[in-house]
Amino acid sequence: MSKKIVAIVGSLRKDSFNRQLAMKAKEITESEAEFEILDISDIPLFNQDIEYPAPEAVKRVRDKVKAADGVWIFTPEYNHYFPGVLKNLIDWLSRPISSEEGQVLGNKKIALSGITPGMSGTALSQDHLVVLLSFLDAKIMNVPRLTIPHAMNLLKDGKLELGNSEKYLIRQKDAFLKFLD
Ligand code: FNR
Repeated sequence: MSKKIVAIVGSLRKDSFNRQLAMKAKEITESEAEFEILDISDIPLFNQDIEYPAPEAVKRVRDKVKAADGVWIFTPEYNHYFPGVLKNLIDWLSRPISSEEGQVLGNKKIALSGITPGMSGTALSQDHLVVLLSFLDAKIMNVPRLTIPHAMNLLKDGKLELGNSEKYLIRQKDAFLKFLD
C-alpha cells in the first residue's frame, strides 16, 4: 500500500520559498507516495483554556498527522531558530488527544528541509527542531537533511528553480521513502 506523507511548511507567506520547495517535493514524490501539504494557516495560538475540545483546525491537522506514515517539515529560519508558527503547531500536536490516546508525534517519522536567502540554509533552525522533536520521541531522519542557502540565486521570473539542488531533493525523497518502510 502506498505510504502517506504530510508536509508542514513553517511559513504562512504566499510566495514562501519553503512552500515552493514543498510543492516541488510533492511533484517528485506523488507517483510513489501520497503527499499532502497541510494548511496550518488557521491554527489558533495555543491556549490551555481552549485545549479541550480541540479547535476544528487543530483536529483536522492532528488527524492528518496521526494517519500519516511520515511528516516532512519545510522550515524557514528566523533569528537562527524555526518560526513561531511551527512551535505553536508542535505545541498543539504535543498534547495528548485524550486520557486514552497519546500525542501524535511520538514515534512519527520526520524529514527536515529548509531554504533561505541566507548562508546557513536553515541548518540552525533544523537543529532546534531536532531537539524539540526528539523530546517528543519523534523518529527524525538525520541523514540526509536538506539545507538550501542563497535562495535569491535560484529565482527565475520570481519562481523557485532548483537547478543543481534538485538532485538533493530527490536524494532526500528517496531516503525518506526508505526510512518509512
Ligand atoms: C529572517 N530570515 C533569516 N534567514 C536566515 O537565513 N537566518 C535567519 O536567522 C533569519 N532570520 C529572520 C528573522 C525574521 C523575523 C524574518 C522575517 C526573516 C530571512 C528568511 O530566511 C526569509 O524571510 C525567508 O524568505 C523566509 O522563508 P519563506 O517565507 O520564504 O519560506
